[in-house]
Amino acid sequence: MEPLQIAPGIYSVGVRDWTIRDFHGYSTDLGTTYNAFLIVDEQVALIDSVKAEFADELLAHIARVIDPRRIDLVVSNHTELDHAGGLARVMHRIGEEKPLYCSKMGAKNLARHFPRKWNYRAVGTGEELRLGRRTLRFLETRMIHWPDSMFTYVVEDGILFSSDGFGQHYAGPETFDDETGERILPHAKKYFANILLPYTGLIEKLLQQVEALRLDIRMICPDHGVLWRKDPGRILEAYRTWCRQEPGRRAVIVYDTMWHSTEKMAAAIHEGIAAEGVSCRPMHLRAFHRSEIVTEIFDARAVVVGSPTLNNGLFPTVADFLCYLKGLKPQNKIGAAFGSYGWSGEAVRLIEEELERMKIPRIQEGLRVPFVPEGETLEACRAFGRAIGRAVVESTAVPA
Ligand code: FEO
Repeated sequence: MEPLQIAPGIYSVGVRDWTIRDFHGYSTDLGTTYNAFLIVDEQVALIDSVKAEFADELLAHIARVIDPRRIDLVVSNHTELDHAGGLARVMHRIGEEKPLYCSKMGAKNLARHFPRKWNYRAVGTGEELRLGRRTLRFLETRMIHWPDSMFTYVVEDGILFSSDGFGQHYAGPETFDDETGERILPHAKKYFANILLPYTGLIEKLLQQVEALRLDIRMICPDHGVLWRKDPGRILEAYRTWCRQEPGRRAVIVYDTMWHSTEKMAAAIHEGIAAEGVSCRPMHLRAFHRSEIVTEIFDARAVVVGSPTLNNGLFPTVADFLCYLKGLKPQNKIGAAFGSYGWSGEAVRLIEEELERMKIPRIQEGLRVPFVPEGETLEACRAFGRAIGRAVVESTAVPA
């Protein structure tokens, strides 16, 4: 990938990771990007780095614009290793004494990751750094996505370097939103649902803060995916909507099965939910990746979870999924549990306990069926589904 000038004197020099398919548990079917930016002014600044294994590629991109040793300073907006991993290589090449701007927490984290005596310059919200013609203004954005995170705004160009904020795990030939059009939005939504969901309260406050600052934002450049230059307001508006976590008239059935009995229950429950006019998708945990399922749940009102009982416990994929979902703290959901069992049947109770820990109210008592559902028990599953469907209809205003 050639470095690309995104504004006069400002270059996108990051890398595309075409082949990654699992980004710490998130499915990246189209790979991802680690964006980094070079600002050539009286002082030359590098904004962010890349994963360690791509550091040489980053340096090669920089070298096509300027000798990397001419970089005067580095800004590290976020210390997670997909953006900071390459710093050791970069600092070694440009000079270990060069100033490294980051938040206070960023300096602490980097010192823990890299036992080197770098020249940290901790900055806080509102602090500015003059590069020459341009001014960098810093804005701390705690927990978007780590406590160290911050944005860097180029005042004169109206460019917001937003680190993980507004990103998408997407690697394609495109660099800008006007090249992808609306098809980039589902990627941005999946990223929001799987990475930023626990922090929606903080994101809402941040959006209000940005609004109050009346920043003239002409381009938003996240560290993952395409850059928002055509209409940065589009992704800001999408974030405002997503932060509200308003569910649609939808349900998701998440399940796994041993000998198809829990699967038969899922199919009958699906019939019942659909019969009430609720859009519903059954998602087998070995057919859909957990991050795809969470993206579906993000838009849904009801989360219906099914598991066979295995060795007095949950089926392992169901346990994995519930652990993942719990960490994301989804809001405005209602839930139900079901499952087939042979002799002990603990799984349904265990699902209900997990839903309770997530503060997801139970629509009705969980449904357990011994061995194989048929006849009356399948009818009970349909009735169970219809009750879920009615609960969704009653608690969502308009069809989504
Ligand atoms: Fe893309 Fe939180 O790192």
